[in-house]
Amino acid sequence: MKKVTLHDKTFALSIPNSEIQRAIDTVAAQISKDMGTEVPVFLVLLNGAFMFAADLLKQIEKPCEVSFIKYASYVGTQSGGSVSELIGLNTNIKGRTVIILEDIIDTGLTVEKLLNDLGIKGPAQIKIATLLYKPDAFKGNYKIDYVGISVPNEFIVGYGLDYDGLGRNFKDIYTLCETC
Ligand code: IMP
Ligand code: MG
Repeated sequence: MKKVTLHDKTFALSIPNSEIQRAIDTVAAQISKDMGTEVPVFLVLLNGAFMFAADLLKQIEKPCEVSFIKYASYVGTQSGGSVSELIGLNTNIKGRTVIILEDIIDTGLTVEKLLNDLGIKGPAQIKIATLLYKPDAFKGNYKIDYVGISVPNEFIVGYGLDYDGLGRNFKDIYTLCETC
């Protein structure tokens, strides 16, 4: 079994790129079908979703807009608390169909916050497409429209996902291995 070591931890290959690509082909076909003649705005949640977005959007052979957004965390000078602000949204989404592209939905809190932050900007509808989903960890109260691969509640890296900054560049996905 192929292994990689990042910082102090070792990970074992769990989802080869071929399986990722098959899942992306299926999601892309579903999205294309549901789009009809509409021109949606894809919002790619950085950093993790960059690789998923690049491979998925190549399979959408219809006109669409693509924008990249991110949550920037900084320590507030007033409250002293940590604040997370949505940055990079330079497209007017009022009245538009928005499709969020996310690498992984774990507890679901990140996308829940994003749904709230986008909802106040008046989109016609917001859909969610995630490459990976951890159903056993999910606490959200919303529907996930498109899921590539459901995974166990274990820590994974690769294909955009990182462990403390490393591992995003790998084309395959690796699972944390306690006994390696
Ligand atoms: P959530 O808010 O709990 O759904 O977590 C979402 C974010 O946590 C994802 O966008 C990832 O950046 C990160 N994350 C969750 N699970 C993993 C994992 O197994 N490996 C790496 N990052 C993860
Ligand atoms: Mg992420």
